Amino acid sequence: MTPASVSDYRELARRRLPKMFFEYIDGGAYAEVTLGCNVADMEAIALRQRVMRDMSQLDMSVEVVGQRLAMPVALAPVGMAGMYARRGEVQASAAAAAAGVPFCLSTVGICTVEEVTAGGTPPWFQLYMLKDRGYMRELLARAKAAGSPVLVFTVDLPVPGARYRDARSGFSAKGLSGAINTVWQGATRPAWAWDVFLNGRPHTLGSVTGAIPHGRSVTDFLGWIAKNFDRSVTWADLDWVRQIWDGPIVVKGVLDPDDARDAVRAGAQGLVVSNHGGRQLDGVRSSVAALPRIADAVGGDLDILMDGGVRSGLDVLKALALGAKACLIGRPWAFALGAGGRPMVARMLATLQSELATAMILTGCTRAREADRSLLDAPF
Ligand SMILES: Cc1cc2nc3c(=O)[nH]c(=O)nc-3n(C[C@H](O)[C@H](O)[C@H](O)COP(=O)(O)O)c2cc1C
Repeated sequence: MTPASVSDYRELARRRLPKMFFEYIDGGAYAEVTLGCNVADMEAIALRQRVMRDMSQLDMSVEVVGQRLAMPVALAPVGMAGMYARRGEVQASAAAAAAGVPFCLSTVGICTVEEVTAGGTPPWFQLYMLKDRGYMRELLARAKAAGSPVLVFTVDLPVPGARYRDARSGFSAKGLSGAINTVWQGATRPAWAWDVFLNGRPHTLGSVTGAIPHGRSVTDFLGWIAKNFDRSVTWADLDWVRQIWDGPIVVKGVLDPDDARDAVRAGAQGLVVSNHGGRQLDGVRSSVAALPRIADAVGGDLDILMDGGVRSGLDVLKALALGAKACLIGRPWAFALGAGGRPMVARMLATLQSELATAMILTGCTRAREADRSLLDAPF
């Protein structure tokens, strides 16, 4: 199949990846209500068609926390991408750089920040706060030394949400049974086994290997998160981070206007309106439903990004219209990577760009940075 849409990349990834990795990417928390709402609420927004305007010149570029993006899209931090394709973070980062958009490296990526940087471009760096502050200090210093321009501080995962699919697929199985399950499922996917299992090693969580006891496999990592992520974190810890990190900080995982105001007070340069792709607290509202109130509350004070349910260039324009300066995409790039590495991620980004162009032309929006609610049909 020649993939045209994100659901096509999803289908290709489903065929290529061992079941546990596909389910890990595709799934959400509990009954996946919020996951469904992220997509459904985005789909339900109506754009306002405008015609007979000179749309020969389009400017899709935007500036976010001082960084210029060729289009208002960035690759969201996605854990363990190196298990979806050989050294997956390096491949996805290369595709993002070629498209002129940022790649954000997860704390729990397979590749280190140094390996991704050596692949061409220093990534934005996503931080999960571990209890071991000495290690955190070292990790931030490493990201800075590698040249990461932006720190994305994820605040909505003091504990991992319950993901039923990970239990059913064996992804959250521990120790020997987890390892046997990985080998068994891998054996049923020969192309993946050759690319990733045999030739994509080492399969460690690169940036945090030093904090994980010797010999721990990636499939043990949900249990490790539960034990090592720091749930005592408060806004005061942002000051601590700032002492080590002097670049822009984007707080990721805000859904409430009061938290958004706190992020401003704490001195963040940006925030991501996000429910972690419906993977944390099921039952919270969709990101796109939360976005307008947060934009009204703090839109003039810092740069707002959003993620969750962005599946096409049309969705990007809808998010911009509701107050985001740019969108992060998670599953779309993870599926494309699983479907076929860097070329598929590049292809998916090119599609997103051309869809955004179409949406801008047919709504009469010449500059992405000027998108506002006038692009939407009532009731917005
Ligand atoms: C497989 C997977 C792994 C993720 N890992 C991380 C992570 O390590 N750090 C983080 O801040 N967010 C992580 N996220 C959340 C994404 O950054 C993003 O918020 C979410 O995927 C957006 O929703 P979307 O998938 O509908 O685009 C992950 C999401 C997925 C699907």
